[in-house]
Amino acid sequence: MQIARFLPLYLVALGGLAADLTGNWVVVQPLNDGTTRRTYFDLKQAGDRISGGIRTGQFYYRVADSKASADGGYTLAASMMDGDLERKAQYQIKLTGEELHILTPGRGGRPASESVARRTTAGEGAMPAKLPIPALHKVPHNGLAKTPPMGWNSWNKFASRVDDASVRGMADAMVSSGMRDAGYIYINIDDTWEGERDAKGNITSNKKFPDMKSLADYVHSKGLKLGIYSSPGPNTCAGYEGSYGHEEQDAKTWAAWGIDYLKYDWCGARNIYRDDEMQAVYQKMGDALHKAGRPIVFSLCQYGRADVWKWGPEVSGNLWRTTYDIRDNWDSMMKIGFSQSDLAQWAAPGHWNDPDMLEIGNGGMNDDEYRVHMTLWSLLAAPLIAGNDLRAMTPQIKDILMNREVITIDQDSAGKQGKRISSPGDQETWTRDLADGGKAVALFNKSGERAKMTVHWAELGLKASPKRMRDLWSHSEIRGEGDSWTADVPAHGVVLLRVGK
Ligand code: GLA
Repeated sequence: MQIARFLPLYLVALGGLAADLTGNWVVVQPLNDGTTRRTYFDLKQAGDRISGGIRTGQFYYRVADSKASADGGYTLAASMMDGDLERKAQYQIKLTGEELHILTPGRGGRPASESVARRTTAGEGAMPAKLPIPALHKVPHNGLAKTPPMGWNSWNKFASRVDDASVRGMADAMVSSGMRDAGYIYINIDDTWEGERDAKGNITSNKKFPDMKSLADYVHSKGLKLGIYSSPGPNTCAGYEGSYGHEEQDAKTWAAWGIDYLKYDWCGARNIYRDDEMQAVYQKMGDALHKAGRPIVFSLCQYGRADVWKWGPEVSGNLWRTTYDIRDNWDSMMKIGFSQSDLAQWAAPGHWNDPDMLEIGNGGMNDDEYRVHMTLWSLLAAPLIAGNDLRAMTPQIKDILMNREVITIDQDSAGKQGKRISSPGDQETWTRDLADGGKAVALFNKSGERAKMTVHWAELGLKASPKRMRDLWSHSEIRGEGDSWTADVPAHGVVLLRVGK
């Protein structure tokens, strides 16, 4: 009788115990490059409330809120700070026996995904302790990148699909297309090449890259140089192994492989360091590269945070990203490119502002828009790092990427970045001072309609029509008379002149 009366309570208590999901859980997802992606759920349950942390790749979230759902599961709202930016994530979880079933709702075009987490040891996957940062000092300049680096990078087109064969194919195409001879020298492997560390802590490449040294030898045999990618954090943006605590070791490994260029991407470091510690963190790798004894271009990628242009040269940075990632569309390219005028004073031989890699040839813009992209980047003395499939370029795309007269503007030895001289708007005039005393003058029409644009010589500081004027896209000489010159500029298009005394 007594037992019968209390039975429901016992069952509730037992049910409660059995359903307690307190503990450290891991989802192990094997990737086709031989590495695994691990997502950790380190949770505490108190009644119907779940708290704790969720780590997925380079993101470390805290559970901010939990809600029990009718099916016996929970919806978790998680959040993390990334500099000033709050990042949010949501998961639905449900304990079934000793399996934690997880539903990650779709977001930003990504479909919803289901996975199963199993219990793992406490502490596995936890954020590593913060390593002390060094006192600031000036890293000796490596003497590289006297003009903005030119080359190719895998990310924009291939993302995680880059592998040994595609890199070799790109090196071949760089030569056969004429790109190498036009100045594009670096073949840069972006994120997703990384394997695990070996027993001695040495970084290895994953299955997609069986032998980095032989790949470097191949690329070098074509008269090209090879670049690689890492992060100062424990993980890269795509969640692969970063260089955290292994800076000198990794720099030595890359030097031994024959690497010539490093893109060093903040990403996973965001969880450990504050933005005002970035300089010291980048300095660590600047020192490590210097010590490794091989000339390696140092490309800082931290999205223009912490006024990087002010301290990039101090850590021996040859270029630094000034913005978040570019996308292959007019709005993204335009927003990035036309917002760079105020940074002009920070560019100089050896040290360049980097408004991100080129999207030319990736299909999301028309040829006029890609001409704007190429022109603007050249006015900005920006690195020209192609991001398309070099093995399959239309003649029009080749003409844009290999317009030598435009490349000459980008590579001008004075290294003075151009600026907007009109007011910002649908039609903008930009100029760049050149080493021979001449100027590049670009008339950009950002509107969706053809437009007549006039440049007055007085705006360029000239008293009369310049003696020499050349249109660098039509490759023709122009005769100037009077105090101005008017061009008919296509919608989303540009006319680029080189004017001389
Ligand atoms: C960041 C960078 C990109 C690219 C990816 C790789 O988003 O800004 O250029 O390197 O990481 O994961």
